[in-house]
Amino acid sequence: MTTSVPLSGRVVAVTGASKGIGLGIVELLVSQGARVIAGARDVDGLARDGAEFLPLDVTREDSVAAFAQVARSAGVDSLVNNAGVGSFMPLQQISVEEYRRVMDTNVLGTLLMTKALVAHFQSRHAQGQVSQLINITSDVSARTFAGGALYTASKYAQRAVTQALAHEGHAYGLRVTEVRPGMVDTYFNGSEPGEPQKVAWLKPADIAGAVAYALSVPQHVRVDEILLHPVVQDVAF
Ligand SMILES: NC(=O)c1ccc[n+]([C@@H]2O[C@H](COP(=O)([O-])OP(=O)(O)OC[C@H]3O[C@@H](n4cnc5c(N)ncnc54)[C@H](OP(=O)(O)O)[C@@H]3O)[C@@H](O)[C@H]2O)c1
Repeated sequence: MTTSVPLSGRVVAVTGASKGIGLGIVELLVSQGARVIAGARDVDGLARDGAEFLPLDVTREDSVAAFAQVARSAGVDSLVNNAGVGSFMPLQQISVEEYRRVMDTNVLGTLLMTKALVAHFQSRHAQGQVSQLINITSDVSARTFAGGALYTASKYAQRAVTQALAHEGHAYGLRVTEVRPGMVDTYFNGSEPGEPQKVAWLKPADIAGAVAYALSVPQHVRVDEILLHPVVQDVAF
């Protein structure tokens, strides 16, 4: 790979930024000189130099519109769709409410947030500027397992949205990257960071590193997909 491009001067919007992978992305990007517009439902008390934390519910169009307005005003050049929820149970236990919670957050949220910035990215392209979209899906965006019907359906769908947008965005120079982490030590699915079984899992900073890499490749390079696992997890493609 040729030289990487520094992130200073970049403006990146990150969803699901209050903890876990999203907060890790915020922290790494600001440490590398980017300005970050960071959104989640509960951002009380959050502050990092270089980051602006705003309330955001990706399932609500009005909330997405308000967040996107601030991002556009800040001159956002890249969006990281990271907000997501887990849900693991046998199929017969999946309720309509749970289906809607997971699909609304992981799929509709990605769609609404991206949709709110497409015109902005198109107008940047018309002015000769490039933009990037990075979707944090999962290693299970292309494989499934018992108990994973709902979550993996949402991640397969998020992958499909990502790939369709990559085709559409090609017309206006949008570089689209799917980041697919295996097991990451976060608050995911109601867990706590640092639980004994999670010690050897990926850390939020590992995923943040993948995002920073995709954002910092030279402008003629597009990173389509990054699949990464902790060494302790089975090899799975
Ligand atoms: N941990 C893993 O092993 C793993 C592996 C592969 C992929 N992933 C994916 O990585 C992403 C981040 O997960 P994580 O592990 O960092 O989980 P996490 O620690 O639970 O963090 C999830 C983040 O998403 C936010 N969020 C949830 N619903 C939201 C909504 N409706 N609107 C805006 N923000 C919302 C949460 O903040 P609020 O609750 O304050 O809104 C929080 O900041 C998810 O898409 C997940 O599917 C995780």
